Amino acid sequence: MRKTVLIPSPRRARGIILKAPWEIDILRKANAIVAEVLLRLKEIIQPGVTAWDLNRIAEEICEKRGARPAFKGYRGYPFSLCVSVNAEVVHGMPLKEKVLKEGDIVSLDFGTFYEGYYGDAAITVAVGEVSAQAYDLMKVTEEALNLAIEKAHIGNRLQDISVAIQRHVEKHGYNVVRDFVGHGIGQSLHEPPEVPNFGRPGKGPRLKAGMVLAIEPMVVTGSYQLEILPDGWTAVTKDGGLAAHFEHSIAITAQGPQILSKV
Ligand code: MF3
Ligand code: CO
Repeated sequence: MRKTVLIPSPRRARGIILKAPWEIDILRKANAIVAEVLLRLKEIIQPGVTAWDLNRIAEEICEKRGARPAFKGYRGYPFSLCVSVNAEVVHGMPLKEKVLKEGDIVSLDFGTFYEGYYGDAAITVAVGEVSAQAYDLMKVTEEALNLAIEKAHIGNRLQDISVAIQRHVEKHGYNVVRDFVGHGIGQSLHEPPEVPNFGRPGKGPRLKAGMVLAIEPMVVTGSYQLEILPDGWTAVTKDGGLAAHFEHSIAITAQGPQILSKV
């Protein structure tokens, strides 16, 4: 008689894959590498550094840690790091000609693939001294992310996270981007659910232990209308307003939200 091999299918809640504690442990390792890379890049950013240099250094650290850069080849993206300067919102390319200069704000977005699981996080960094508005935009965006993470606990609903971001951002006179959203993350870089940075209180699926989310507010000083540059990737504000982007991958647990993308 043939033996039947039973492959356990992952537990899901409304199409969202729930991760076991051992999977969250691997996701923590994948995301710790991302955090280490971003921290290192932040340390070396100064006027004259090129986005190309940053991409190369990110790849070196990633390789040293035994991980694969997740973005390289993803939907044809040709680099490992996204480097988005000033009016560039996300998916800026790390070109040799992209030389950072005093007063710029630069968003760095990096992902890893490690032992079958993905890491994903982003920060925005000042190059030297920046304008008061640029500094405030970065501060408000990072605060919005932290407020959102506080809402990522069992019993809340997904859009409670979204609302926390939108409220904080709009209170400070800025706008959240509509065209890009956060996402579930696990054995794929992008999994259900979408995590918008705008929403309504009490809407969306109920948050459950084992959900792992990449929460990523993208915030602009002006209109949230974007356009894509002819390179097919770089998303910029239509009105030329500044943009900031912070992202953490977090796990929802019985003990509350856990930030995975930290060293
Ligand atoms: N952090 C981005 C995201 O979550 C990374 C995708 S960039 C790409 O969508 F280049 F890989 F597409
Ligand atoms: Co992401």
